[in-house]
This record gives sequence, C-alpha cells and structure tokens, in this order.
Amino acid sequence: MSGNKESDGGWKTFVWNSEKKEFLGRTGSSWFKILAFYVIFYGCLAGIFVGTIQALLLTISNYKPTYQDRVAPPGLSHTPRSDKSEIRYTKSDEKSYAKYVSSLTEFLKPYDVELQLEQLKFENCGDSPQSYKDRGPLEGKPEVRNACRFNRNLLGSCSGDSDPTYGFKDGKPCIIVKLNRIVNFRPKTPSSNQSLPESLQGKLLPNLIPIHCKNKREEDEGKIGEIKYFGMGEGFPLQYYPYYGKALHPQYLQPLVAIQFTNLTLDQELRIECKVYGANIDYSEKDRYQGRFDVKFTISS
Ligand SMILES: *[C@@H]1O[C@H](CO)[C@@H](O)[C@H](O)[C@H]1NC(C)=O
Ligand SMILES: *[C@@H]1O[C@H](CO)[C@@H](O)[C@H](O)[C@H]1NC(C)=O
Repeated sequence: MSGNKESDGGWKTFVWNSEKKEFLGRTGSSWFKILAFYVIFYGCLAGIFVGTIQALLLTISNYKPTYQDRVAPPGLSHTPRSDKSEIRYTKSDEKSYAKYVSSLTEFLKPYDVELQLEQLKFENCGDSPQSYKDRGPLEGKPEVRNACRFNRNLLGSCSGDSDPTYGFKDGKPCIIVKLNRIVNFRPKTPSSNQSLPESLQGKLLPNLIPIHCKNKREEDEGKIGEIKYFGMGEGFPLQYYPYYGKALHPQYLQPLVAIQFTNLTLDQELRIECKVYGANIDYSEKDRYQGRFDVKFTISS
C-alpha cells in the first residue's frame, strides 16, 4: 500500500513539480522553446512544399502541353462501337440494329448544320482538302479560335438524311470514323506510294490523310464487296489541324469519314481492318486502335 502511495506521489510530481515549477519534466520556457522550434520547422517544410509546386506551375502553360515528344500517334475510333467491335444484326429485324442506329444519330448531333451557324465561332474552310489552318501560336493570345465547319451532308448516304438507318436496313451498314484529338498534332500525308494499299496508289490527293479498309483474314477475300468512303476527299483533310485544345478550341469538330460496306456477304462473320495512312502515323502491336481498328460484321437476312 505504502509503496503504491509513494509511486503515486512520484507520478504526481512528474506531472507537476511545484518545487521546480516543471510540467512533465520541463519548465514553461523549455516547453515554449520546443513548441517554437516545431512551429518554425514545420512552417519551413510547408513553405518548401508549396513553393516548389508554385514554381513548377509557373513553368507550365495552360494551353500548350509541356512534354509531347512521346505522344503516340492518334487513335482511330469508330461509331457504332460495341463489345468486341462486333456488329451483328438481322436485316429484317429493326430492333436488332436499333442500338447501332441510335449511337450513330447521337454521334452526329454536333455535326448538324444548325449548330454551326454562329459566325464568331465557326468558319468555312473550303470544300476540298487544303493545308493546315494555322491560328497563331498556342502560347499567344489566350483567345478562343474558330472551328472549321463540318457539314454532315459530306457523309452522303451515311449522313442519316436520305436513310435514317444509315444503310443498316438494306444490309449496307455505315460506320463513321474519326482520328482522336491531339493538341497541336499535324498529321502528315503519306510520303511515298510504297506502304499504301494498291487501290490508294494513284488516287492520293494532296492535303489528305487517306483511309482504307480490307478483309483482315485471307479467307474473307472476295466476301467484303465494295466499300464506299464519304467525307471531304474521302479522308481526313489537313485544314482541320492543328487542334488547339479544349480551352482555346471549344467548338472544334473533327473531320469525319463514313465508310459504307455495300455488298457484305450475309450470314457469315467477316473481319475487316481499316487503317489511316500518313508519314507520322504508325501502328502498334500493343495498341489496336493506333492508326487502325478492326470491326466484325455478321449480318443475317
Ligand atoms: C504513286 O503511284 C502513281 C501511279 O501508281 C504515280 O502516278 C505517282 O506519281 C506515285 N507517287 C509517288 C509519290 O510516288
Ligand atoms: C455483290 O457480291 C456478289 C458476290 O459476293 C457479286 O456476285 C455481286 O455482283 C455483287 N453485287 C454488286 C452490286 O456488286
């Protein structure tokens, strides 16, 4: 018992030693110094942390990507896109292709003529492929740039105007293709005939990135039928590039190409590969959508 009392007393004196005026073994001024030390210490750490972030932010532009030398060439994406890139439907059953039709309609909405009327936001960039449209340096005036109009009428029988099912009801489905946006990227036209498929050689236009589709598997040779391409020059015209980014180019419309498969063999799975061709566009084993894509069609009568 007494031992307990003694240690109790020792504990109490440790907490508050009235003789030496010490709290937990330290005097008031000692506690104050320690506190001051830590306040300054952590203050400096926080200062260094905030300071380096601020300094880094000062070197970054709001508009121009700082590092772009390792950006992969653009992806090629298509609509309608579905699981495993498979388009499977029955010609006579409207319901079986309704989802493809509605995704195309949704995708084309921003390309309505009525949405591109404003003179201050849009401009005409010609009816045929032309060279890049330079709209000043990215770093210059932080001014919103005009966008080139892209009228969906350019997509011919895939525009949805003459046939609101985009060819699906006749077993001649359309897909619509775009190159994904990359700020400040200028696609270059093919530099030689060599890497091009035969059907493109000799029909190259200046200022145009051509696209071409063919059977992916040898056994589908001759079953794909005629493929039609719609769009300005049947490819991606250069005057729509470069893209200035979301902040400077909010109305930007990517040029589109519609591809219509007019004579696909029915009741068979057909695999088709589409590729764009350009001097600075290449393909990757790892990324199946870089500069190309695959699509599978199975149409039943
Ligand atoms: C590509 O081939 C066509 C004919 O096949 C030829 O007229 C044209 O000059 C060629 N172009 C280049 C860049 O070699
Ligand atoms: C469609 O393809 C078949 C062969 O698969 C061919 O016999 C037919 O002539 C083609 N039709 C047209 C309009 O090209």
